[in-house]
Amino acid sequence: SGSTARILKDAIRTIPDYPKPGVAFRDITTLLGDAWAFRRAVDELVQPWAGAKIDKVAGIEARGFILGGALAHQLSSGFVPVRKKGKLPHETVRIAYSLEYGLDEMEVHKDAVKPGERVILVDDLIATGGTAEAAVRLLREIGADVLAAVFIIDLPELKGADKIRALGVPVHTLVSFEGH
Ligand code: PRP
Ligand code: MG
Repeated sequence: SGSTARILKDAIRTIPDYPKPGVAFRDITTLLGDAWAFRRAVDELVQPWAGAKIDKVAGIEARGFILGGALAHQLSSGFVPVRKKGKLPHETVRIAYSLEYGLDEMEVHKDAVKPGERVILVDDLIATGGTAEAAVRLLREIGADVLAAVFIIDLPELKGADKIRALGVPVHTLVSFEGH
């Protein structure tokens, strides 16, 4: 409901001029530390898939891990970590993606999903969508059927959700912030 979105929004702290002047950092640690808000956010993120058979939830390091474990538990599905490069010990596929300055790379284990498995991707926030797009591409490369990408926070001015929808992946977000 609208009031839930309002309460979740109020549980997110904004830090002005972090990590640099002019940026308003949306800090979810306050939401995570509020037992009711954390539960409510997880419930709202999984609500469209209640009763569906979801094989895996894939979470993006680092903040997507916090939500991903909770979502996987709620959906009785497995969890897949999408990690920054060099952290996963077995055979991986790797993809480069753009950050505000320069490039980074993320990886997933090649055997993290079986071909055709139904996967939901989760992260805390979508901004430009570069991170989530890279994760969708990686998951598809190892055979996942990416059913949706879900986020607590959307920054709609940056049009990241449009980028993910253009890949054919539905996007579900709980709270929007104008201005960044
Ligand atoms: C932040 C956020 C998302 C990503 C969104 O992560 O948690 O993962 O940026 O940005 P984008 O849509 O423009 O790609 P960050 O890379 O800061 O790392 P962290 O989660 O490890 O803190
Ligand atoms: Mg992140």
